[in-house]
Amino acid sequence: MSEKATLEINGEKYEFPIVKGTENEVAIDIKTLRSATGGVITIDPGYKNTGSCESAITFLDGEKGILRYRGYSIEELADKADFLEVAYLLIFGELPSQEELDKFHSDIKENSVVDDDVKKILDAFPKSAHPMGVLSSLTAALTAFNPSSVDVESEEDMYNSIVRIMGKFPVLVSWAMRKKHGLPLEYGDDNLGYVENVLRMMFKNPNREYEQNPILIDALDKLLILHADHEQNCSTSTVRITGSSHAGLFVSLASGISALWGPLHGGANQAVLEMLEAIKEDGGDTKKYMAKAKDKEDPFRLMGFGHRVYKNFDPRARIIKKAADEVLGDLGVEDPILDIAKGLEKEALEDQYFVDRKLYPNVDFYSGIIYRAMGIPVEMFTVMFALGRLPGWIAQWREMRLRKEPIGRPRQLYIGENYRPFSPIEKR
Ligand code: ACO
Repeated sequence: MSEKATLEINGEKYEFPIVKGTENEVAIDIKTLRSATGGVITIDPGYKNTGSCESAITFLDGEKGILRYRGYSIEELADKADFLEVAYLLIFGELPSQEELDKFHSDIKENSVVDDDVKKILDAFPKSAHPMGVLSSLTAALTAFNPSSVDVESEEDMYNSIVRIMGKFPVLVSWAMRKKHGLPLEYGDDNLGYVENVLRMMFKNPNREYEQNPILIDALDKLLILHADHEQNCSTSTVRITGSSHAGLFVSLASGISALWGPLHGGANQAVLEMLEAIKEDGGDTKKYMAKAKDKEDPFRLMGFGHRVYKNFDPRARIIKKAADEVLGDLGVEDPILDIAKGLEKEALEDQYFVDRKLYPNVDFYSGIIYRAMGIPVEMFTVMFALGRLPGWIAQWREMRLRKEPIGRPRQLYIGENYRPFSPIEKR
């Protein structure tokens, strides 16, 4: 017999099925709550207890610090796979064969030219524009240049849209950076791998050929894999909810990019580096900033610390911390803010305030240090996060459409004025 949860409201009992996920996660299915009770809803600001969908893409256990894409552990993927393989895995559900991967890559390359008129839109932005705003706008603008809407009943149509955006997105990423730095816009080189191409498009000097550095390729591959998906976070939920109105893939992604920009989400990687710089400028007094973070009167938070789901450790942060040491060592870069970051982490992990609230370094705490060592400007950090998250957003959007999910439309508890008659302006 299936398990049920019983809810009692004013002496009346209602039963709801209990559903279990493949990892034995338990949920109460309240789909019939409102109709059965004559209008009662649940209220859960920030959706701390609400599952918005069923999903087969990413599993994470915040207590145990487990993160898996389609069943594969993040540790193994970061160590053994490359970003394009992981993108294929997330989007289509299985690791690709060599033949499938080659086809995927070749189709992406085939679709990696952005209409030249997009440059006119880019031209209209001031140089001071934040590249996340530019990226979000240009991604939405791609819809205008590729107007045919996706027929989600057609796997072929869906596939074509996916390879189109996988091809064009890194070009937009590089243009957002080059515009800011006054560099001529670049296209990719079909002879290169996906990640190599990203580096070339970003860093190629107009006067000389770009020389690939295997350390940078490996580091970027790893960082992109670590950011590739994270189940129903703020930006992914935004992509799913935008797409649930049957808005197209590109605009759904554009709304995800905007959600990612905020400092409480992907924007934290930029905020972490700025915070560490500020601490360094201020004489490296980590204790002072720890005290500020704990002071409830002070809005300052230790950026890169804490997570809605991870309450033990963020497995991505562990991998990135190790990678930061390796990449800086390999590149021969000595960065004093790495020491400040490690000092801050050590103090926080021993501090009762952080222990009580289960606050640990998250994925963004060390990523900026690696990006900086790679020569990526600070305002591009969140853009790099978006590049990594692209396959995750695509996978989630595709799953949502294939499962024919209903339009996302939460309820609310109204706490405003009761009815009052209109009063003409002369009487107010
Ligand atoms: N520094 C100081 N105190 C913190 C921090 C922090 N970084 N994070 C949480 N807290 C405190 C809160 O003040 C609160 O304290 P209280 O219980 O005494 O009121 C308690 O810990 C719980 O925090 P909430 O904000 O309720 O936790 P929530 O799950 O809503 O937020 C979040 C998670 C947004 C990540 C938060 O920890 C934060 O703001 N961190 C800093 C920003 C950051 O690094 N964001 C990146 C997240 S990872 C990502 O998106 C890729």
